[in-house]
Amino acid sequence: MTAEFDQRIQSYTQQVDAQLELIIPPDTGPASKLYQAMRYSVFNGGKRVRPALCFAAAEAISASDDNTVKIAAAVEMIHAYSLIHDDLPAMDDDDLRRGVPTCHIQFDEATAILAGDGLHSLAFKQLTNLTGITASINLEIIAILSDLAGCNGMVTGQAVDLESTETQLSVEELNYMHTHKTGALIEASVVMGAMATNQADEAQVNALRSYARAIGLAFQIQDDILDVESSTEQLGKSQGSDSHNNKATYTSILGIEKAKSEAERLYQESLEALSPFDDKAEPLRALAKFIVHRSF
Ligand code: IPE
Ligand code: IPE
Ligand code: MG
Ligand code: MG
Ligand code: MG
Repeated sequence: MTAEFDQRIQSYTQQVDAQLELIIPPDTGPASKLYQAMRYSVFNGGKRVRPALCFAAAEAISASDDNTVKIAAAVEMIHAYSLIHDDLPAMDDDDLRRGVPTCHIQFDEATAILAGDGLHSLAFKQLTNLTGITASINLEIIAILSDLAGCNGMVTGQAVDLESTETQLSVEELNYMHTHKTGALIEASVVMGAMATNQADEAQVNALRSYARAIGLAFQIQDDILDVESSTEQLGKSQGSDSHNNKATYTSILGIEKAKSEAERLYQESLEALSPFDDKAEPLRALAKFIVHRSF
């Protein structure tokens, strides 16, 4: 990726990390272990792709502002909670995340469950005082996250993932699982980022939603590919975890070459969705490229 892209991602990351510091300060009180576990899971690296998508969507419409930072922090906290729970023994039972022990290994299972719960509620709190938009748009934004992080999105996707172990899914079922468990939060990041500028018209939001749906599915396809082709060192999580758990993945069902061509096709589709936008959508275009060509 270009130096400009790296700098941009660094700037987005700095802004969202500063906000996360404010939201989850170190705590020495009776619940200090909970706070340690939340901070451990949020500040242990991570590519910050969802916050970046949120900033880039706002910039495609007009400019990022305080609302963008809050939404970016909210989606990253939902993401961190989803990873903590995804790694639990009852789910993927993984020991390594972002190059360090997973939350339940570093602390204990009960603390990991609560850290996820805590991050989940903190995320929604972030969205209650957006500025420069009507209360009705603010509520709409909260409803979008509620839907797409929950029972019309990530949570249903994770449920299908768990049900599908050792199962031969059809391509339609596979797409349902991936678009829900991973695509939905990516869609929320882009759509909320755009809406909170208060300057996006309906056609723009629809175009951005199409972009996000394409790149969100491609994101999970690439994650499945990396589980086969990358290394534990590079990923910071245990390579081969999917095959070890007999997961239904793009690679196990369609094979690696088909998975790669589908990711590439979706990348092109995401770019086409951005065709009504000018240069201000370049960060979104660069992020799409990063998502399908990343090696970690
Ligand atoms: C991993 O997401 C989980 C999926 C939804 C595939 P990321 O690859 O964005 O994980 P981090 O945040 O960079 O660790
Ligand atoms: C996770 O998918 C999707 C979530 C909603 C967390 P994976 O189970 O493939 O994610 P990794 O590979 O553990 O990061
Ligand atoms: Mg999983
Ligand atoms: Mg997993
Ligand atoms: Mg995976």
